[in-house]
Amino acid sequence: MFKIQTLNKIDAGGLSLFPLDNYEIASEIPQPDAVVLRSFNMHNTELPKSLKAIARAGAGVNNIPIDKCTEKGVVVFNTPGANANGVKELVIAGLLLASRDIAEGVNWAKTLADKGDEIPALIEQGKKNFAGQEIQGKTLAVIGLGAIGVLVANAAQALGMKVIGYDPYICVKQALKLSNQVKFVKGIQSLLSQADYLTLNIPLTPETKNYINKEKFGMMKDNVRILNFARGGLVDLDALKDALESGKVAKYVTDFPNQKVLNMKNVVAVPHLGASTKESETNCAMMAVNQVKDFLQDGNIKNS
Ligand code: MLT
Repeated sequence: MFKIQTLNKIDAGGLSLFPLDNYEIASEIPQPDAVVLRSFNMHNTELPKSLKAIARAGAGVNNIPIDKCTEKGVVVFNTPGANANGVKELVIAGLLLASRDIAEGVNWAKTLADKGDEIPALIEQGKKNFAGQEIQGKTLAVIGLGAIGVLVANAAQALGMKVIGYDPYICVKQALKLSNQVKFVKGIQSLLSQADYLTLNIPLTPETKNYINKEKFGMMKDNVRILNFARGGLVDLDALKDALESGKVAKYVTDFPNQKVLNMKNVVAVPHLGASTKESETNCAMMAVNQVKDFLQDGNIKNS
């Protein structure tokens, strides 16, 4: 009997597909063989002696103490691609939120509820106040061409954007999934200087912390619009605040609300919703539990 501990709610429908007579899957097990988790932060958790594997139901592994796991021989899995469509769809919504004052317009329209006969005139005022720009023909720079970045690049291109991409580590398999209209750019400076919109689709690691900093803002065009649905820590928030105040950045749309910039009028934030769809949650849960099951049962290490 293997014991798998879940540190976040895992879709029950997915779990019922497993041969549960050989597994105990519960939220509290003192000595688990494996742990399956979503966003739970394990950095301050002592690893149980019995632990052989951790599976992160998601792409980013910044909530897992990788060094400690390596030292103790604990295998770490993630679920690359399993939630990529969910995140891609929210990034595309982000592109539109960055272009049209949808969030601001929705909030403002609610204030009209008790305005009675004044509503038609107020709508005319709203039309002027919330005028936006179109994305067709604009240049989107995609930083990070992994599973999510490739989907975003192709979808944005289908919406009429010029798409350029940068990724120092892209593998041939990912590159082949790119539409041939998506242009690779070799240097980050060249990429940033061309972008009307920028989307970050890279993991947060010690190397990428504050990746978008004062120096990189200096390489960008004025009025650039930035989408961050990857991790909050990729952007130096003090530098971002200055860039938003100076007009270098026209809008920052993010899945990671932070008090430093949250109240600024050109910031739109949602609460880490990228992978929060029924489909993505089920895909990630299924992949994570299957990886752990294959490893505990047969010793197979397959990170897909
Ligand atoms: C990811 O790293 O894939 C996302 O953060 C997933 C999530 O929201 O759990």
